[in-house]
Amino acid sequence: MPFSRRDFVKTSVLGAVAAGVGTRAQAEPSTAQPHDSQSGSYKRPIIICAHNGLNYLEDAFAFLKSGGDTLDAALKVVKGPEDDPNDTSVGLGGIPNEEGVVELDACCMHGPTRRAGSVGGVRNIKNVSLVSKAVFEHTGHVMLVGEGAERFAVAVGFPRENLLTDHSRKVWLLWKEYHSNEDWWGPGLADPHWQPPDTKPDVKPSDDKPQSQLWQERYRRLEEHATALGIAPELRSDAIHKVLFPPTGTIHCSALNEKGEISGCTTTSGLGFKLPGRCGDSPIIGAGCYTDQDVGSAGATGSGEENIKVEGAHTIVENLRHGMSPQEAGMDALKRIVRNYNNDMTKLRFVDMTYYILRKDGAYAGVSLWEGYEPGKPHKIAVHDGTRRAENTVPMFKGSSQDFPPEPKVPAEVKKEYLK
Ligand code: GLY
Repeated sequence: MPFSRRDFVKTSVLGAVAAGVGTRAQAEPSTAQPHDSQSGSYKRPIIICAHNGLNYLEDAFAFLKSGGDTLDAALKVVKGPEDDPNDTSVGLGGIPNEEGVVELDACCMHGPTRRAGSVGGVRNIKNVSLVSKAVFEHTGHVMLVGEGAERFAVAVGFPRENLLTDHSRKVWLLWKEYHSNEDWWGPGLADPHWQPPDTKPDVKPSDDKPQSQLWQERYRRLEEHATALGIAPELRSDAIHKVLFPPTGTIHCSALNEKGEISGCTTTSGLGFKLPGRCGDSPIIGAGCYTDQDVGSAGATGSGEENIKVEGAHTIVENLRHGMSPQEAGMDALKRIVRNYNNDMTKLRFVDMTYYILRKDGAYAGVSLWEGYEPGKPHKIAVHDGTRRAENTVPMFKGSSQDFPPEPKVPAEVKKEYLK
């Protein structure tokens, strides 16, 4: 499909949102743009994905280059983090729901045959990205959820296994105990260290103590709990951070071959300590992933609830269809999130969203609402087009997103001491 600047259609939202929002004008990533990206005639194999796929790109790219299918190449990438017990955002070892059960979401789209599959809230099956492909291969459906999806996966040959690693179980227990002043979780009355809630150090901020002292006591208590649970010293501050600010990790991957075939997939364990049954954007075709063989492919990581409301991946692919560059298309989707909050920066700083965009001619972009989660750690897009690399995403706003929920401001000196 030819992409002409004349076709460029400015959506009304572009103008509506700009006021009061400091967007950063940055050039399209230049290193890997095809020479004739406007014509759409230049074809080359390329895979893009979220940063946690970087280590799996080499094999997948070799497979793609040797004639492998584009969806199978993308699935090869995301299977890496799904199988990795140390990636707590995807598959085995994912942070569980509030009941301590890992529930996974995934979807995929196969451009050449225009098929799509999706699974949501799946327990006990590690490679849900592959299950999402099996949905369109073995059924006339597009989306299966919960127990039905698990039974389907077993029926087509996926093994049932315990997805809760010892570490993710301990992190969940730490979360449970931290939130358990008024229930039966945590040390009971008979425990020698038990104290009545109103004298415990993790008291509410309504006390007269200065914030820094409260937070110091709170972290110390969390560290004590983490030690008692046997969480390794080098993993403690990460575990405490996850308990205080539940993460939403995910991986998306899109792949294009030299015939111009294109596919995409997204997989996740979703929001840490979510309500059982919560599905984020990742299994929603059009939100977490969308591929159109005529146009391109896009996917998302970040705040699932926000992305569902703008159908980010579909919005981006439609923007590409109307002539926007990958970066413009992604920025427009981000602007819709900004619009949903009426440009209210006090709320938007708690939203984190990254889009990965691959146009059918090989042009690509990674865009994010904020530069990263914290200073010095920018969001990245991983790319392989013959050279494997990670590039910073293009942010809409300068600075870092902030952890949610918005706990009272943690004094910098306390954060530095405890959340290394
Ligand atoms: N983006 C992953 C999720 O919100 O579940």
